[in-house]
Amino acid sequence: MKVIITKDKEALADKAFEVMKAVVDGKKDAVLGLATGSTPIGLYARMVADHRKNGTSYREIKTVNLDEYAGLRPTDPQSYRYFMRDNLLDHIDIDLTNTYIEDGTATDAEKECERYNALLRRLPRDIQLLGIGENGHIAFNEPGTPFDMETHVVTLTENTIAANSRFFEKESDVPRRAFTMGPKNIMDAKKVLILAVGTNKADAVRAMVEGEVTESLPASILQKHPDCILIADEGAASKLSKK
Ligand code: F6R
Repeated sequence: MKVIITKDKEALADKAFEVMKAVVDGKKDAVLGLATGSTPIGLYARMVADHRKNGTSYREIKTVNLDEYAGLRPTDPQSYRYFMRDNLLDHIDIDLTNTYIEDGTATDAEKECERYNALLRRLPRDIQLLGIGENGHIAFNEPGTPFDMETHVVTLTENTIAANSRFFEKESDVPRRAFTMGPKNIMDAKKVLILAVGTNKADAVRAMVEGEVTESLPASILQKHPDCILIADEGAASKLSKK
């Protein structure tokens, strides 16, 4: 895993943008695996600003997202579909029919997971963007998720519900279940870019980079990816022994 440490979250977003822009510039019909959460917001803002200023085009680009809450409609402001439109997709020239995410309203969960796995096989990702949870989760893959799992439905842990409640009015509003790509889908991407900001991520980052590869720390699987870049700010990198 290549590790890049930046001074703060602004410098991290600049660096992440460089990596993403190289993929978009290198292939006009690239497939981008995207993530939600607070960490990628600065990167998305830079992609939007660059599109406006330099006309970088996403007309033939496709996107696939990691995860979606179960039970939320795409128009629900708390849904990840809404987040993606609000932060990126509605502000670039992408064709929205080329932007994919699990259907949170699907009634047959198993069928929806199969549909998404088939879609991911049809659209090999040139890059997969990730954030990391304080417990080392990637997407909604919580500790203990088998590494060979593909898209599945998860019941969120108390830790993740508490962390995500900052986006909701109250903790009881956070959906308890979600669809998520599995570790196997994530590892299938050609390149992985994982971002980490803040000292609250320092333990997870250290375990991911320097600890053993174990299903107890889902992000540790990335040590085995042939092209994985971690960009961490000084806070998130503060517990790494080799810098
Ligand atoms: C988002 C996702 C999550 C987040 C992680 C970090 O689609 O799947 O794994 O990447 O929870 O969240 P933030 O960036 O809010 O700290």
